[in-house]
Formats: sequence, C-alpha cells, structure tokens
Amino acid sequence: MHNITLINGDGIGPEISEAVVRIIEASGLKINWDLQTAGEDVIEKEGTPLPQRVLESIRKNKVALKAPVTTPIGKGFRSVNVQLRKELDLYANLRPCKNLPNVKTRFNNVDIVVVRENTEDLYAGIERQVDENAAESIKIITRKATERICRFAFDYALKNGRKEVCVVTKANIMKLSDGLFLNTYREVAKDYPQIKQREILVDNLCMQLVQKPEQFDVLVLPNLYGDVVSDLCAGLIGGLGVAQGANIGENCAVFEPVHGSAPDIKGQNKANPTALLLSAIEMLNYIEEKAYADKIEKALFAALKSGKCTVDLGGNLGTKEFADEIIKNLHQA
Ligand code: NAI
Repeated sequence: MHNITLINGDGIGPEISEAVVRIIEASGLKINWDLQTAGEDVIEKEGTPLPQRVLESIRKNKVALKAPVTTPIGKGFRSVNVQLRKELDLYANLRPCKNLPNVKTRFNNVDIVVVRENTEDLYAGIERQVDENAAESIKIITRKATERICRFAFDYALKNGRKEVCVVTKANIMKLSDGLFLNTYREVAKDYPQIKQREILVDNLCMQLVQKPEQFDVLVLPNLYGDVVSDLCAGLIGGLGVAQGANIGENCAVFEPVHGSAPDIKGQNKANPTALLLSAIEMLNYIEEKAYADKIEKALFAALKSGKCTVDLGGNLGTKEFADEIIKNLHQA
C-alpha cells in the first residue's frame, strides 16, 4: 500500500481529482490518499493558501499528486506552486510531451521529455533598479545545481529506456554562465556512455522543434529556456488539456498538470482530467508501479481513440462520463 498526498486544489481541481482517484482505484492499485486541501478555499480559515500541514504531509509521504490551485491576485500571497518548489527543493521540472491518440496536432511522433532546472538562472529573483531608466537581473548558474539536473536527466533516460539527452544553452554568447552549464553536462555525460549526447543552441532548438520535433528525445535546460521550451513542447502535443508535469527533488516529488484551475468552467462537469491522469501515470512509474501505469495509459488511449472524451478534445462527454469510459476500458483489459 502506498501513502500519497493528494492536493485536490480548487476551481476544476476537485472534479478532475475525483475522476483520477476513481480511475486509479478501478485499476486495482491500493493507494492510501492523504487528502490535503490548499489554495483559495482554505485562505479564509487558515490564513494562507499553503498551510504547513500540506508540506508536512508531502515530507512524510514523499510523493504528492496535485490538482491546480488558484493564485489569488493582489492579496499578497505567494503562488502555492512557487512555495512548494522552494520549501521542498523540487529542483527538477519534468515535462513529458507525447502525442496522444486522436488529439489532432500539426505533428505526429512527438515524444519529448523536457527536464528543466527549477532553482536558479534568471529566476533566482536577484534584480535591482539601477536608476529610473535601467534595471538588471542576475543570471546564476552553479556547478552543483547543473550537475544534479544533468544527472537527473541521464538517470531518467536510463530508467525510462531513452536513447539521447540533449543539452540546450546559449553558450556561444553567455560563455561563462551557459558555458558552465554545458561543460558540467559534458562531465556528467561521461558517466553515462549508454546514452547518446547532443548539444544545441536554444534558438536553433526552437526552429527545429517547430519543423522536425520527432528528432528530439530528452532535453535538459537551464530554468528560463526550460520554461519557454516546455510550453512550446506542450503546444506540439495539443496544449493545456493534455500537458502533464512533475516537480521532483532529492526527497519528494509533486506530480501535477500544467494547466490552471480554470475557474470559467468550475463545477460544470466539463473539465478534461487527461493532464492530471497523465501526471498520475508518470507518478505510478516513479513509485515503480509500471504495470498499473501501463494499464491505465492503455485504457485512457482506448477512450481517446474511440472519441469518447471531453468536449475540448472533440468528444461529447462530461468529466465523470469520460472517467467512466476509462474505467470501463480498464475492466475489459
Ligand atoms: P487555466 O489553465 O486555468 O485556463 C486557461 C483556459 O484553458 C481556460 O479557458 C480553461 O477553461 C481551459 N482549461 C484549462 N484546463 C482545462 C481542462 N483540464 N479542461 C478543459 N479546459 C481547460 O489558466 P488561467 O485561466 O490563466 O489560470 C486560472 C488560475 O489557475 C489562476 O489563478 C492561475 O494562477 C492558476 N494556475 C495554477 C497552476 C497550478 O496550480 N499548477 C498553473 C497555472 C495557473
């Protein structure tokens, strides 16, 4: 039995969480969900969108599945997502982007995993106003953080049967900072002779991604390029409703969809649970329950193939009915 923290979020969060928990239960895998509310709905009672109990639960269970939470605008609260990453030192942002059956996109055969460094680069937040007409931000790249993200990317490649890890920089211009990222990658790569190496500049990568994305396998990038490129890759496979993600650290991992809490369709049984379900499937791989992960993926793909899905993907089912369809496929397997 696995103990897993479930943050069911707000907006469409509770609806898609319920659907995903039902699907996992129907697969036969036993999970003891530790339900932790967070986000807008808990602020009034607990004074913060991310109470300590949520962090304690994740530290204890080491793995969490998280639905989206609303970031209240102009109320002085930091984003729950940013806080989670900082408090738990979730240094690796993992975004597998793979074409799904029947989800129409410009390209077929996209199967890219974006590994983004989550803690430094221009996102370290070190900025200053030089004078009223100038501001500067400092780009931090350290050997330590680069080494652990590169090692993460190569280990992921090994564990998941991937062939290549490509490093993405602009080391031709930022010779010291991106140069350190690139050189550290080269050092780490020596420990993984089974995995092919590749180096590419970020501008060339973007052009190639929108022309021939099928040539890429695992990408490893500093924070800023990783942020931009991971959304580009989400676009290649059909956008928000199907983009999954995870933030992973030494001790804990949080699996979550890329999309937000979609307040515009909250409570209407319209939300597509696919991105949260794909995040959960990646989570099952992470906790070494690959057989269940594959079984659920097969049931999801069968539903998508038959067009029995939510409206945003061209079907005519609600959230609950889509989940029922996937469960039906699980029982037939
Ligand atoms: P959003 O992703 O919530 O919605 C953008 C559009 O996509 C909306 O039209 C929405 O209906 C649609 N959409 C999103 N997910 C969908 C799904 N699963 N099924 C069907 N349609 C879906 O982005 P928005 O509106 O910018 O953000 C809303 C709130 O979510 C904000 O408070 C934002 O801060 C928060 N947010 C939270 C994230 C997280 O918890 N990881 C990530 C991104 C945003």
